[in-house]
Amino acid sequence: MVTAGSDNALTGLNVGWPFFDLSAASQNEGATQDTEFLPDLDISLIARPTEIPIFPGDPTQVWQYHAIVHQGDKNRVMKLPRSYLGPIIRAHQGEKVRIRFTNATPEESIVHWHGLHVPAIMDGHPRDVISQGETYLYEFEVKNRAGTYWYHPHPHGRTGPQVYRGLAGLFLVSDEEEQSIGLPSNEYDVPLVIQDRIFDRNNQLVYTSGHRMEQMTGFLGDRIMVNGMPDFTLAVSTSAYRLRLLNGSNSRIYCLAWQDDRPLTVIGTDGGLLKRPVQRRYVFLSPGERLELWADFSDDPVGSDTALVSLPFDAGIAGRGMMMGRGTMQGQSLPNGAGFSIFKIKVAKRERNDRILPQELSLIAPFRVDTAVNFSSPKQFFLTMNHMQWSINGRTFEMQDVANDEIVHLDTKEIWEFNNTGGGMMRMMNLPHPIHLHGKQFRVIERSGVAHQGYVDEGWKDTVLIMPGERIRILVDFNDYPGMFLYHCHNLEHEDMGMMRNYYVKV
Ligand code: C2O
Ligand code: CU
Ligand code: CU
Repeated sequence: MVTAGSDNALTGLNVGWPFFDLSAASQNEGATQDTEFLPDLDISLIARPTEIPIFPGDPTQVWQYHAIVHQGDKNRVMKLPRSYLGPIIRAHQGEKVRIRFTNATPEESIVHWHGLHVPAIMDGHPRDVISQGETYLYEFEVKNRAGTYWYHPHPHGRTGPQVYRGLAGLFLVSDEEEQSIGLPSNEYDVPLVIQDRIFDRNNQLVYTSGHRMEQMTGFLGDRIMVNGMPDFTLAVSTSAYRLRLLNGSNSRIYCLAWQDDRPLTVIGTDGGLLKRPVQRRYVFLSPGERLELWADFSDDPVGSDTALVSLPFDAGIAGRGMMMGRGTMQGQSLPNGAGFSIFKIKVAKRERNDRILPQELSLIAPFRVDTAVNFSSPKQFFLTMNHMQWSINGRTFEMQDVANDEIVHLDTKEIWEFNNTGGGMMRMMNLPHPIHLHGKQFRVIERSGVAHQGYVDEGWKDTVLIMPGERIRILVDFNDYPGMFLYHCHNLEHEDMGMMRNYYVKV
């Protein structure tokens, strides 16, 4: 294992080539030095404590991202009314974005652009955290395909609690291809961020006690929030909608289905539109993942309603009956895998617009596994538990650590295999892990040991759910940006306890 350099949290400057990338680091020395960068959108984004009325009675203390637009179209930044969530930021592919992030919370923080393909120094690595009152400058070009991306804090060990308090928002990207197929837009294009929370009698958020057993499972709330609101109802007209779902929960996995059993029509995933729509009776949405649905209500009578539900499923074993017995843990009133309604849909008005679902959504080239440099011996990562600690290949996060098998070469493709073998306590601890790579969208090329059908592995992904006993292989192109990026479990309590590692893209 290699440990290099000492860190300088503010600039990210490090010594110790080849593990640190000075040229990328120097891009962040300040706006005044980069006269070339002419942003299409220039905003300030402030993370700050505030309060929001969520229930009758006392307002809820939250942390929230707040934006100020300095330059560019003001409509690109949209605040969600009555929500603790950050504003929805919109950008078109090819545009340049400047974001001056100011941390006005009492903890160290940094913003990560989940799913965006940006240079290492713009990615929000935990070594780049800033303290209260400091500002971090992001400047990047939006290179991604059109899709539903998001942003959230990434300080090591504190991502779970900070996201939980409210720090998260959507980052929607559009492109020419997407706009040319005429999907439902404006009020027919609905972002839906799904999260779970626990509130006390005074309407205040309750997080985990920090007890190890709770960390091992992850935080599970008993209150389902959509766009920051409880008991959410979406009023629709008799027409077709594009529903963009993000699972912004810390550790809850949803097994999405329509209450009335009509199939789900999926048109997009993490990295944007699929090649063509696919239908599923149910689809899993694990923390960090996104899913875009086509939902057509044109045959539904006005006045009728339905709901998007989470079906009951087997979410693995977390030492049930052993160390704690059921019911002693927080959130066990609604365990992972329990069934419930997520939000209601009310068909409220008649309208005719006969939108037709395009059968060709986007161009996605078929992948070729033999383009991977390690085609004959894929890298293997085992998701295991030892000594009450989730780990990847037996390792946990160290700020500057990169092991030999975590080094890749710039502009090469590799196959990475993730194996959810679980383990510990005589295999009594076996949980799902949503694995996420920073900086890249990848393709899922194989899933084995499969016990469920609720996956959409077609298309581009940045987070992939691996159920106990499953093994997946992904094909990643390490193009464009050298430097250090993260890969980790997106169960935020797993991530915070160190189920996260660096990988290094070497020039
Ligand atoms: Cu949303 Cu490191 O991730
Ligand atoms: Cu990410
Ligand atoms: Cu995990």
